[in-house]
Amino acid sequence: MGDQPASTSHTPILAPLDWEYAPSRESADLVSIGDRYGVFVDGDFRPPLSKKWFETINPATEDVLAEAPLAGERDVDRAVQAAKKAAGPWAKLAPAERAKYLFRIARMVQERSRELAVLETLDGGKPIREARDVDVPLVAAHFFYHAGWADKLEYAFAGVDPKPLGVAGQVIPWNFPLLMLAWKVAPALATGNTVVLKPAETTPLTALHFAQITAEAGLPPGVLNVIPGAGDTGASLVGHPDVAKVAFTGSTEVGKLIQRRLAGSGKRLTLELGGKSAHIVFEDAPLDQAVEGVVNGIFFNQGHVCCAGSRLFIQESIQDVFVGKLRDRLQTLRVGDPMDKNTDVGAINSAAQLEKISELVDSGVEEGAEMFQPDCALPSRGFFFKPTLFTGVSQSHRISQEEIFGPVLSTMSFRTPDEAIEKANNTPYGLAAGVWTTKGSRILWMADRLRSGVVWANTYNKFDPTSPFGGYKESGFGREGGRHGLASYLDLSSVR
Ligand code: NAI
Ligand code: MG
Repeated sequence: MGDQPASTSHTPILAPLDWEYAPSRESADLVSIGDRYGVFVDGDFRPPLSKKWFETINPATEDVLAEAPLAGERDVDRAVQAAKKAAGPWAKLAPAERAKYLFRIARMVQERSRELAVLETLDGGKPIREARDVDVPLVAAHFFYHAGWADKLEYAFAGVDPKPLGVAGQVIPWNFPLLMLAWKVAPALATGNTVVLKPAETTPLTALHFAQITAEAGLPPGVLNVIPGAGDTGASLVGHPDVAKVAFTGSTEVGKLIQRRLAGSGKRLTLELGGKSAHIVFEDAPLDQAVEGVVNGIFFNQGHVCCAGSRLFIQESIQDVFVGKLRDRLQTLRVGDPMDKNTDVGAINSAAQLEKISELVDSGVEEGAEMFQPDCALPSRGFFFKPTLFTGVSQSHRISQEEIFGPVLSTMSFRTPDEAIEKANNTPYGLAAGVWTTKGSRILWMADRLRSGVVWANTYNKFDPTSPFGGYKESGFGREGGRHGLASYLDLSSVR
């Protein structure tokens, strides 16, 4: 017998992680959380010049996790200057070399995925199952994908000479802290820009741990800076004269403020704002699958999702059957401890968000819609809200017009495809939509007429770095992901 070839264990780079040996409740010991963090500026953690800190809590227990720095105007300026100084050398670096940093960061995110997933869940309240199976793998995927583009930009934009813009000021929300970081930082760095990133005030921790990863990856100082803080910090970042490009994800209200503020400044701007997305179920749909899709569409991440399928339109002939199935499924959802791997619906991100959800749900009852909630018990501490289903909703009700950003589904009915389109498009928003039907031609017919940036067919909440994401109308403008997303970070005005 000849020598056996050495056995090689080949792990595909995006293989799901091996969670089999983990305890059933993910342990907070997997991550070491500092007592007090600094801002990450010019390659190192530094005490904020503001000399101010704020507490970030675990919304599932209300316990304080750590103190994050509250970056003031001088901190913003110091970070922008560091990014500006780093911009020239970073832009001049051979693109294949830039790519190496992004590949390395992607691998390190995978290696430290448990730490990052646990931290994301502790700081923000999302179920650990989602943080580990969706958020963190997608973060790595975004860095891998964009690493691949770094040395292929001239092919992506044939005939032009793509140039970076300079310093990107990025402001992100609390619903997907690490994933929104990846959506913004990966394309910015791949295209040769440098970054100052402001995470949201309730979820600063994963961005700070990510900053540490980039330092360990040897990313040159100043290429990425992370400055936690609240709205004032965000406002001084987007208004800083040396910021060339602003990317914002958050509420439509703040998006409009930023747009007004930047008008005439010459800065490039992309806005990814709110939504009130329509989920449409036809009578010929595979109903049990559609129930799962609808449940995922609204209860994923407690409904704190810009593209949440928060308005459900059911064809009249199956309305009663479908609502019955939905109610049964809601009874089986497990609400509670986000660190428990069996939890489906975790903690609401903050007391303020819980108040907003409660107020809108009360308005639904007052305006005459019929509310259903499963009879599950909620934890006595922390911020929680029962999965909620409304029937008898009219299009004028606040719960069918306003973004609730919580685990609340408003259901309505329709008879014909034309009526479904008219109702689905009757919103100031235009981020996403879902269609359930077995007729392929109907899917295309609907996709043509739905005024939303994404249309999912027989699925929902599927994200991929290759597909551009963004909205129409008050959901914002510009696209993130895919080749379109790269264009937002490039000056494409000079011909080669
Ligand atoms: P927000 O829009 O105030 O916060 C998002 C980010 O913007 C945070 O980092 C915040 O510090 C920053 N920010 C606030 N004011 C700013 C300003 N003037 N200039 C620059 N940056 C600023 O959202 P908030 O108050 O946390 O949530 C309120 C509602 O907004 C939610 O109930 C939800 O309906 C919606 N929302 C939508 C999101 C989405 O992804 N579409 C994300 C977060 C909130
Ligand atoms: Mg927190």
